[in-house]
Amino acid sequence: MPKNNSSEIASMTNTASHAYAALTAHQQKLGMKHLRDLFADDSGRAASLSLSLEDVLLFDFSKQRLTRETLDLLVELAEASSVPEGIRRMFDGDRINVSEDRSVLHTALRRSSGPFPSARMDVMPEVLATRSRMARFAELLRAGEAPGHEGMAIRDVVNIGIGGSDLGPKMVNQALRSIAHPALSVHYVSNLDGAQLAPLLQTLDPRTTLFIVVSKTFTTQETMLNAETARDWLRANLGEEVDLARHFAAVSSKPERAAMFGIAPERVFPIWDWVGGRYSLWSAVGLSLMIAIGPHAFDELLRGAERMDEHFRTAPLAQNLPVLMGLIGIWNVNFLGAATHAVLPYNESLKYFPSFLQQLEMESNGKSVGIAGGPVRGETCPVVWGELGNNGQHAFFQLLHQGGRLVPCDFIASIRSDYPLPGHQEALLSNCFAQSSALAFGKTENEVRESMEKERVPPEQIAKLLPHRVFAGNQPSSTLLLKSLSPATMGSLIALYEHKVFVEGLIWGINSFDQWGVELGKAVAGRILPAFADPSLASAFDPSTRALLAYCRKQS
Ligand code: F6P
Repeated sequence: MPKNNSSEIASMTNTASHAYAALTAHQQKLGMKHLRDLFADDSGRAASLSLSLEDVLLFDFSKQRLTRETLDLLVELAEASSVPEGIRRMFDGDRINVSEDRSVLHTALRRSSGPFPSARMDVMPEVLATRSRMARFAELLRAGEAPGHEGMAIRDVVNIGIGGSDLGPKMVNQALRSIAHPALSVHYVSNLDGAQLAPLLQTLDPRTTLFIVVSKTFTTQETMLNAETARDWLRANLGEEVDLARHFAAVSSKPERAAMFGIAPERVFPIWDWVGGRYSLWSAVGLSLMIAIGPHAFDELLRGAERMDEHFRTAPLAQNLPVLMGLIGIWNVNFLGAATHAVLPYNESLKYFPSFLQQLEMESNGKSVGIAGGPVRGETCPVVWGELGNNGQHAFFQLLHQGGRLVPCDFIASIRSDYPLPGHQEALLSNCFAQSSALAFGKTENEVRESMEKERVPPEQIAKLLPHRVFAGNQPSSTLLLKSLSPATMGSLIALYEHKVFVEGLIWGINSFDQWGVELGKAVAGRILPAFADPSLASAFDPSTRALLAYCRKQS
């Protein structure tokens, strides 16, 4: 039973409430109708419930537990929730990030020309100028002409950043590693845990290493500490007088802080307050990625995203990929009661995509306060999780098949592999298609009995094993089939999810572009840290924290 069928989203207008009520009634009528029956009822379902962006990708949502009527009602909900107006306002540069009083203009970062969003507030000159500076710097490094210590060419680039200053570039870098520069290695360091940075440093030659400190605020504890350790390591190995300008670059909206750290102004690249961290890989935050794949491929990535932007801005709601994806998310959460959402790439190169999406979706929409400050009564963002699908089959898929929980899934695969080994790609794709099919259609008692009888299993064994071998099915999923993992396809894929998140936020009535929920933990960590050096400070903390600190003291 869906948790919140009867509750509506607090900030809804009357028309949205009406559309929501119509969907609730429709859901009750549809009930638990099985995907087997939905396919039996409509022979054209596979074709009619899928949409493609020409030669880029196919979005097959025929295995979602909905009908054409559901979609029509969801589109009405989108209209009643002012989704078209929200889209227009974002592209117009309105200050839709109201709690931070900012425009949301990451789409500017993938444009090739201006003015944008308007002649009056054109951000394109600085966007294009920064892109050119990035390209020049990347080309120098790629050509071995950005000298490290004593003129030696830089061989290793380490991106130091966390969250949006890490996940996006790292994820795309992994996705496009087949076209990465062969003689330049790009590494990513995010974690406070020395277990990430220390072993990496052991493999690096300080004379030929460049660190890029990426932090919008240039105050993030993890990034600052890792950057300071990197600076200490350079000094320890190359002498106090080492020319840090040769070994550091920075990306920040606070260039003065980067300068104070000791980074040469000509190596500080700007980002702007109208780009959220998790939407920033298209900006100079993507510098490490551009160094790896080259300015030309980076530009193709931007073109792919721009293409999705144009589709999102102009396509009618019913044929609009991000809108449909967002509406399916709403249907699963608010009408079917899904609490989680699994992302299952069938492509090793997409191994960081689930964690990238976790930040994108949960930091954007993991909120229960509406844009005007009132509570959102319905559920919002599901718990997003995932793993490479093929590996997951031999780990957690058991629960998806027989755990009895509703877990909508996104299967993501590319038709062509960048690493073709005979027989591998077909085997991989057949597993991908088999899983979504098995999850949707399951295996009935009769089917199990029949197949066991065919195998001549004795009747008492059949009786014993039958319940274990039944698959209920009816687990909803979408499949995103990409032509290949090219830079342009990656751009379109990421922009698709970005806009889907925005659509859901509009319907839930929340601001998808702030992240106040991450602040408390940071502040508390700042108070706890000094207690490691001065135990008397521990008395200010809760009993559990005090006990944890005391145990650490005793054991260290
Ligand atoms: O703590 C969350 C967060 O602010 C994210 O939104 C952001 O992507 C990340 O930290 C890194 O922030 P910064 O780029 O300012 O170091």
